[in-house]
Amino acid sequence: MSGVTKAVRRTVLSVVRRSPVPTTQLPEAVSILAAMPVAVVVLSEENRFTYANPAAEQFLGLSFPQLAQLSLDDVLPEDSPLFLMVGQLRTGATSIADHDLSFDGPRLSKKGISVQGTTLSEDPGSVLLILQDGNTVRSLDRQIAARNAARSITGMAAILAHEIKNPLSGIRGAAQLLESSVAETDQELTVLIREEADRIRALVDRMEVFGEKPVAMEAVNIHRVLEHVRRVARSGFGDGLRFSESYDPSLPSVWGNRDQLVQVLLNLVKNAADALIAGGALESEITLITRYQHGLRLANPTSDSDNRVELPLLVVVRDNGPGIPEDIRPHLFEPFVSSKPSGQGLGLALVAKIIADHGGLIEVESRPGRTEFRLHLPMLAEEDAQ
Ligand SMILES: Nc1ncnc2c1ncn2[C@@H]1O[C@H](COP(=O)(O)OP(=O)(O)OP(=O)(O)O)[C@@H](O)[C@H]1O
Ligand SMILES: [Mg+2]
Repeated sequence: MSGVTKAVRRTVLSVVRRSPVPTTQLPEAVSILAAMPVAVVVLSEENRFTYANPAAEQFLGLSFPQLAQLSLDDVLPEDSPLFLMVGQLRTGATSIADHDLSFDGPRLSKKGISVQGTTLSEDPGSVLLILQDGNTVRSLDRQIAARNAARSITGMAAILAHEIKNPLSGIRGAAQLLESSVAETDQELTVLIREEADRIRALVDRMEVFGEKPVAMEAVNIHRVLEHVRRVARSGFGDGLRFSESYDPSLPSVWGNRDQLVQVLLNLVKNAADALIAGGALESEITLITRYQHGLRLANPTSDSDNRVELPLLVVVRDNGPGIPEDIRPHLFEPFVSSKPSGQGLGLALVAKIIADHGGLIEVESRPGRTEFRLHLPMLAEEDAQ
């Protein structure tokens, strides 16, 4: 749970329970919640509204005195996925985030809603929800726009041509090393050359029907993918940069396409390397992280809205470079957006497309000294394993 959610939870609890809180603290707690630009509501065990901040009143289109007379059933249709989420919170989940929900009730009709829910352990049965509409969750919108842009046929062809370059530079770098290195290392480099050559072949094979042909999904060990990408980077564009890893060794396999995941991570690591080299930071470092993280779910793009996929596998590529230029940010995942003299601006469009095809989600956080691309990916589902 984020620090903000924790702080909100504590404050809400003070407001809802009133009595145990020293009265001197109460106005402060109320005004903090009132000032928050996100909608915060608390539901009782019977799903009645016991608290709503002003942003929530605006979001729901009802004042708190009105809401206090109502329960969630009065606002949303009974098949709303929000009921499922609230139920899961009451039966053990401590925190869940759900994106891209539609609220379609008699009093409320909104699309693209993100909800973060958490239990109030000190107040059993009560559930706290933070609601954000599509405008607030702009990064998600951007992703969807990027998805569409990358799907255009021309964009697709350009992306493919672009993608042939990365493995080729890996091959060239490795071959160069081979020439000047001693015999012992030859074998590892030969393996690298073979793997990269295979990848180009697989890409070119797909060229005719790129975008049409469904890619083969399998259980992929993401740590092997990361190590492969690191080796390619080391022997090419990332030569001389420091890499560090923080892996969760018990992480289950990703349900995905190995070659495509290599492409995604190669692009993210290449961007990090570019930023570090251009930024000239003294202690340049690329950090690769994997984690298991409960709670983030997304509507399955290939099925109806009630079928939601959990994305518990987190893969992070972090660098300590200068950060993403301000003017690039609103269009980050669109094709042909680049701040580099020789950049094509296709890397992140490709990343967005592949992650979308995997049913995953990307988050970006960037400030000078720390840029982080976080991939949330699905794991092997039981029905896929059979
Ligand atoms: N880790 C990062 N740090 C700072 N800026 C970044 C980072 N990753 C991406 N960017 C910014 O986003 C832009 C778009 O990245 P993208 O990978 O799509 O294209 P590119 O790297 O410029 O070109 P290409 O990948 O086609 O060679 C980059 O030009 C850069 O300005
Ligand atoms: Mg790039």
